[in-house]
Amino acid sequence: MKKALITGITGQDGSYLAEHLLSLGYEVHGFVRRVALEDPTRRFTRLDHLLERITLHAASLESYPSIFHIFSKHSFDECYHLAAQSFVAESFADGFSTMNTNINGTHYVLAAIRELQPGCRFYFAGSSEMFGKVRETPQTETTAFHPRSPYGISKVAGFDLTRNYREAYGMYCASGILFNHESPRRGYEFVTRKITSTVARIKAGHASELRLGNLEAKRDWGHAADYVRAMHLMLQQSEPDDYVVATGETHTVQSFCERAFGKAGLDYREYVKIDEKFYRPAEVDLLIGDSSKAHRELGWEPRYTFEQLVDEMVETDLAEAAGSADAPHTLAGGIS
Ligand code: NAP
Ligand code: GDD
Repeated sequence: MKKALITGITGQDGSYLAEHLLSLGYEVHGFVRRVALEDPTRRFTRLDHLLERITLHAASLESYPSIFHIFSKHSFDECYHLAAQSFVAESFADGFSTMNTNINGTHYVLAAIRELQPGCRFYFAGSSEMFGKVRETPQTETTAFHPRSPYGISKVAGFDLTRNYREAYGMYCASGILFNHESPRRGYEFVTRKITSTVARIKAGHASELRLGNLEAKRDWGHAADYVRAMHLMLQQSEPDDYVVATGETHTVQSFCERAFGKAGLDYREYVKIDEKFYRPAEVDLLIGDSSKAHRELGWEPRYTFEQLVDEMVETDLAEAAGSADAPHTLAGGIS
């Protein structure tokens, strides 16, 4: 039985990946912050249904000894490094902590693996945010990076570290360059979930408007359940490499609103208000990925369409809002 360690297992992707690896017969271990272990009912909402089947270890991306300790006590065949400060807007508010967590955290995990388990295969959660001010369209594995946020810069550094460990030490280190992927488990601060959760609150009579920033930004939105399959496939190849994972379609934030409000029988133009505070100091205007390499070499294809993704998110939020008037959606208005 293969053993995998997932950093960031409490996040959106971590929970889908844990499910996927369990379904393939893996023994799944997760790396969580101690504070999460101390408050499991609030911090493990995405993992509730899996807690009996996984093993959790306390560690922090800010602490090399805590990471070293896990690798000194347990051996793993594969490590999926998903933990990160993943919210782009927050990286403008506190670039220093984003850099520290995302760059040093990645370096610590790589260094611990090199020292203790050089045969453990490593996956790095790279991002289309690395393309930033895009140099070509669609973006591929050879498109130059031009990150537009501290988050994007931190992911370029993590990507370069991962490649360097592969080239310098012969380790199996692969990066996925994943475009935006969403789901009913998406954090409420990201625009898709902010939209679908607010649609549900409006429908239930708990909100009357949705305040957003740039409606013209275009994203290539896929479903997280599809994207974690690609992560796993990247670690099953004969040689490590980097892959773009995307749907190849792009949509504006406005068209996401149109579909989400429409699904609930509402017209977005009556509810969406523009609020300057949700604009970013530097925007990534357009992302659209070409994942033909992943298709050709990994046999990977997305299964969800954009419409199915939006509809599933809206339906889940409508059901949740109908069941509870004060779900954590109150956060959605205050964070960009
Ligand atoms: P997410 O839901 O925000 O999850 C982030 C995870 O990282 C959580 O488990 C979080 O733990 C953990 N974490 C954050 N800071 C940490 C720290 N200092 N020490 C230990 N753990 C820490 O993100 P996601 O959407 O699942 O994304 C997974 C990864 O893929 C991230 O690296 C993200 O940057 C990258 N990515 C995401 C997308 C996307 O569209 N979703 C696209 C490209 C790349 P807590 O629960 O304790 O906060
Ligand atoms: N969050 C948010 N809130 N975004 C808004 C809002 C708002 O009120 N109004 C407009 N937007 C726009 C943002 O300016 C951005 O252009 C777009 O919606 C998407 O924003 P997010 O959902 O926050 O995602 P992101 O594209 O910045 O980053 C996500 O995708 C990256 C991959 O490209 C995150 O998951 C990153 O971790 C990931 O790497």
